[in-house]
Amino acid sequence: MPISLIVCTPEQAAVVAAELVVGTVARILPHRTPEVGAATGNTPIPTYREMIAAATRQGVDLSRVRTWNLDEYRGLSPGHPLSYRTYMATHLHDRVGTPPEFRCFPDLDDPAAYDLRIARDTTASGIDIGLLGIGRTGHIGFAEPGCDEDGGTFLSELHQTTRQDAVREFGSLDLVPTHAVSMGVGTIRKYWSRVILMAFGLGKADPVWGMLQGPIGNHCPASLLRRHRDVTVLLDPPAASKLTMKLLQATQC
Ligand code: F6R
Repeated sequence: MPISLIVCTPEQAAVVAAELVVGTVARILPHRTPEVGAATGNTPIPTYREMIAAATRQGVDLSRVRTWNLDEYRGLSPGHPLSYRTYMATHLHDRVGTPPEFRCFPDLDDPAAYDLRIARDTTASGIDIGLLGIGRTGHIGFAEPGCDEDGGTFLSELHQTTRQDAVREFGSLDLVPTHAVSMGVGTIRKYWSRVILMAFGLGKADPVWGMLQGPIGNHCPASLLRRHRDVTVLLDPPAASKLTMKLLQATQC
């Protein structure tokens, strides 16, 4: 299985993930535009902070990175405080000065155009490295259980559990969007050269088990990453707590 597993604290994971992304960016920058896949949610917030710190220390200009966000809610204006555009502006783009054309999001009216745009604008390596979280349903991006195993960017109906989890940001269930446009599992498998997936907390223990040890299938979209060529999974001990020792022996701390 082409998955490296690291168990550490969330703070260490943010530093490790940031070093991997900034290291990749530094290697590519002298030659071409680095392409970075971007997740939102709570999990990667410290990683964006550590990326900015690492890039500042190493003199790496993150404003020259093109970011490809995984998903965006449908029904929110781009300037809505809970849109993923706003999230990225707050945690990365405005802080490093990313130009508008390097802030890539799926087209809410034409989902399939996103994969064509990735294919057109990136080199043969596609998106060089990208960050993923995992939802309690086992979703990656907003590719929920039952999604097309090889699907491209699509309009996703959010699972009830996913909508329920978003109540902490939106305040009440009726304010949580019912749909989002999301890269599909096929987009990630086809266009992402390297995946960094992070999961923290006991609430992620079941989907993490499903991703790494359960059967591979679209009942747990993250399990389909076991068919990807290069995945690094960073977990804290609670998120790793349902994995068997055999798998954990492979772990570096
Ligand atoms: C968001 C995204 C989602 C989140 C997942 C975990 O862009 O792609 O798959 O990564 O829902 O969210 P948090 O990190 O808030 O637990």
